[in-house]
Order: sequence, then structure tokens, then C-alpha cells
Amino acid sequence: MSLPERMRAVEISRPGGPEVLRLAEVAVPEPGPGQILIEVAYAGVNRPDALQRAGAYAPPPSASPLPGLEAAGRVAALGPGVTEWAVGDQVTALLPGGGYADYAVTPAAHALPVPEGMGLREAACLPETCFTVWSNVVMRGGLKAGERFLVHGGSSGIGTTAIQIANALGARVFATAGSAEKCAVCERLGAERAINYRDEDFVSVLAEAGGADVILDMVGGDYIARNLRALAEDGRLVQIAFLQGAKAEINFAPLMMRRQTLTGSTLRPQGDLAKARIAEALLAHVWPMIEAGRLVPVIDSEFPLEAAAEAHRRIESSGHIGKIVLALR
Ligand SMILES: NC(=O)c1ccc[n+]([C@@H]2O[C@H](COP(=O)([O-])OP(=O)(O)OC[C@H]3O[C@@H](n4cnc5c(N)ncnc54)[C@H](OP(=O)(O)O)[C@@H]3O)[C@@H](O)[C@H]2O)c1
Repeated sequence: MSLPERMRAVEISRPGGPEVLRLAEVAVPEPGPGQILIEVAYAGVNRPDALQRAGAYAPPPSASPLPGLEAAGRVAALGPGVTEWAVGDQVTALLPGGGYADYAVTPAAHALPVPEGMGLREAACLPETCFTVWSNVVMRGGLKAGERFLVHGGSSGIGTTAIQIANALGARVFATAGSAEKCAVCERLGAERAINYRDEDFVSVLAEAGGADVILDMVGGDYIARNLRALAEDGRLVQIAFLQGAKAEINFAPLMMRRQTLTGSTLRPQGDLAKARIAEALLAHVWPMIEAGRLVPVIDSEFPLEAAAEAHRRIESSGHIGKIVLALR
């Protein structure tokens, strides 16, 4: 199969608002050793892309400077040493960057097969949220069947995935969200109780239920102290972002008395091997959930590649529920 030399890509022309995203023509990247080249059909849009565009989340030094952390499509070429994929295979993959383009490269071990019966549009919505949720909620937070799990931002891409994975694991799921409509979606996805944080205090709701064993938080700020109060004894608070700020004054004495754990992680700067281990865990534990219909991506909206700025306006409005995708084919 012959490949073009040039392709369409969305570039960040300078740090700023959505208007700095520009459609450009650039060289098709070449897969290095252990990498594959994907002909992108759909690319997922994530909040970290908007942070990168604003200049607040620099890509790691070896990554493409183009935005885009996940994509689904067809394997178009193999780098030296790749044996696990063949040209033409349909994959969905975590990317170091560069998903907002006709072609993207990524380590072969960061790609997963498109789940049985799923289209490429839905498949493109899986990697960033599944890698983040599984590695933080299960590998780091150790969530187990029967435990109580609280996720903030329950209607976000991350939240809608976390609710369904935790529910499939047999946990009791609680979620916060900012409207009645968003709360209804959280409960439809498997939360036994969604909490509209504008009207209700999640600390009281969780206290009544016996406390959360694991909390996945992206809000930070004054939520950090409140989360520690909402945690049960031996509970684990896992921090994945700080939408309301990363600084807080905390009394740590209860954490010691109640044997709680405060942890967190961010996916993108982790090494290739760490991401490959998460991919293996997803294939073993999450892909069967998808194939059993227990995890279905919630898609809010689709935009053509050239409307990437509109997609960013939508995600930054927080009006969306679930995932936003860019269509390239
Ligand atoms: N650590 C990692 O590796 C990693 C990886 C991926 C994503 N993330 C982070 O995880 C978060 C979710 O990502 P996503 O792509 O799923 O984003 P998303 O769909 O845009 O969701 C963010 C949601 O958070 C809520 N929110 C926004 N600002 C808030 C605030 N100041 N206080 C309380 N809630 C707020 C909004 O819902 P409401 O209407 O309910 O407020 C919004 O829908 C982002 O912060 C992202 O940076 C971290």
C-alpha cells in the first residue's frame, strides 16, 4: 500500500484559546523501531488537549507537538521489529500526541484491537479514559467488588468510563455532576446515587453510606479536604487533575488516624513500558467488559477535523456529556 508524503493536521499555532488551532499540511510521520503508523479514522478530544493548547501541559520531549492523545483507524505501516500487528488491522491506540491528523505514530504495544462489534468512532473514545481510569482506580486505588467508589465529574469522558468500569467490577458507585441532566446520565450508567454538587454536599451523602473506599478526583482545591472527610477508614484518594487548583491547607491528622492513602498520577509522561503494562491489563480486564456490553462509550458530539476549535469550545464549556470526537474519514 502506498502512503502519501503529506497529510492534514491540526497545529497549535501559539498558546491560547481555541482559535489558535490551525489546519495545516505536514509530513506524514514515519514509525520508528517498535512503532506503528495509524491511518486515523476518528480521534478523541480530551480536556488535556485544551490544556496543551493553552500552554499549560507541554508534550513530553519525544512526543509529537500536535494535539491528540487517542485515535482509532487502520494500521498503515510497521516500524522495524513490530510483529504483533499487520498492515490493515483495525486498532485503537493511546498516542504520545499527534492524533489530530490523518496519520499518527505510536508504540505498537499501546494499540489495542477494536472490540468485537464496535465501530471505529466508539473505539476512538476508549484509550485515554480507559488507560487513566484503570491505572488510577484499580492499579493505584485498588478498587474491589463490594467497595464504595466516588467519582467527581461523573458526566465527563473520564467520569462516564469510571462509573461503568467500577460498576462492572461490582463496586457501589457514587458520582458528582453539575446538573440534574448530568446526574440522570450517571445513574443510567450504573451509579446508585448521583449527587448534584450545586445543591447537595457529597461529604454528607458519602458519610451516610459509610464513606468512600476509593475516590477519583479531578477537581482539587477545597475538594481535597472534603474528599478526605468523605473517605472511609483505609480509603484511597486518587488525584488525576486539579480543575479548581492544586493547593490546599489540609489537616493530615485524620489521614493517619483513619489509615487513608492520598495518591495520584498523570498518564502522558509515563514510560512506554508502564503504558504497555496498562494496555495488557485493559485487554485482560476491560475489553471483556466492553464485549459483554458493560462499558459503552458515551459520545456527546462529533466534529470534522477542520472544526477542532469548535470541539475545544464544546469541551471547555463543560456543557457536554461524555466524549467528543473528531472525524477524519
Ligand atoms: N491524570 C491523567 O492522566 C489524566 C488523563 C486524562 C484526563 N485527566 C483529567 O481528567 C479530567 C477529566 O478529563 P475529561 O477529558 O474527561 O474532561 P471533560 O469531559 O471535559 O470533563 C471535565 C468535567 O469536570 C467538570 N468540571 C469542570 N470544571 C470544574 C470545576 N472547576 N469544578 C468542578 N467540576 C468541574 C465538568 O462537569 P460539571 O458540569 O459536572 O462540573 C466537566 O464536564 C480533566 O481535568 C483532565 O485534565 C487526567
